[in-house]
Amino acid sequence: MINVIGLGPGNTDYITKLGEKLIKNSDVLIGGKRNLESITDFKGEKIELASNLKEIVEYINNNKNKQISVIASGDPFIYGIGRYLSKNIEAKDLNVVSGISSLQYIFSKVHVDMNDLYITSSHGKTPDFDYVLSHKKICMVTDKIIGPKQICKEILERDLNRTVIVGENLSYDNEKITIGSPEDILQIDNFDMCVVVVLEDY
Ligand SMILES: C[S@@+](CC[C@H](N)C(=O)[O-])C[C@H]1O[C@@H](n2cnc3c(N)ncnc32)[C@H](O)[C@@H]1O
Repeated sequence: MINVIGLGPGNTDYITKLGEKLIKNSDVLIGGKRNLESITDFKGEKIELASNLKEIVEYINNNKNKQISVIASGDPFIYGIGRYLSKNIEAKDLNVVSGISSLQYIFSKVHVDMNDLYITSSHGKTPDFDYVLSHKKICMVTDKIIGPKQICKEILERDLNRTVIVGENLSYDNEKITIGSPEDILQIDNFDMCVVVVLEDY
């Protein structure tokens, strides 16, 4: 059985007890650099996941005798590894343990419900902003190319009245949550790893 374990937003306090137990009992941990580094007391083998997805799946399928856990940030099925693994590993071999997504985390922090939320991502693609911004409540995971500033420019180009919330380094010591108008956000020079919430009513 292969475990795919959501670690939560980053601070290890947010890992579920089940996730923690499964990690502890694993022979091999597979994950991105940041995620592997966060599991400090692991005694088994660690394999870094980068753009080697095909090789990783081959490794998993060839090592069914080992207890393998793939660790993922947030929830594996919210813009994570879950989709790829579920398409490439037999369902009977896959045990997915959900984690607290960075999206859930930011909504808790700003006390806004997630009802009717439109979830999307700018990772490796240019979003269709006409469609994205037609929603009243949006949360976007972002990459270095299309982040808070680009999103704010798109809002202003459409003359929309929106509040923007940027959550950087969520759950870490250097967490920063900024709430403002698109104009306010455009004044800020740089953003670290972040999610962006856009609200019609706040
Ligand atoms: C590949 S996606 C993974 C999302 C993850 N599966 C989740 O549920 O949070 C990576 C993006 O998630 C967001 N993200 C993940 N962890 C974060 C954190 N601790 N603080 C801010 N943004 C985070 C960032 O937009 C980052 O670029």
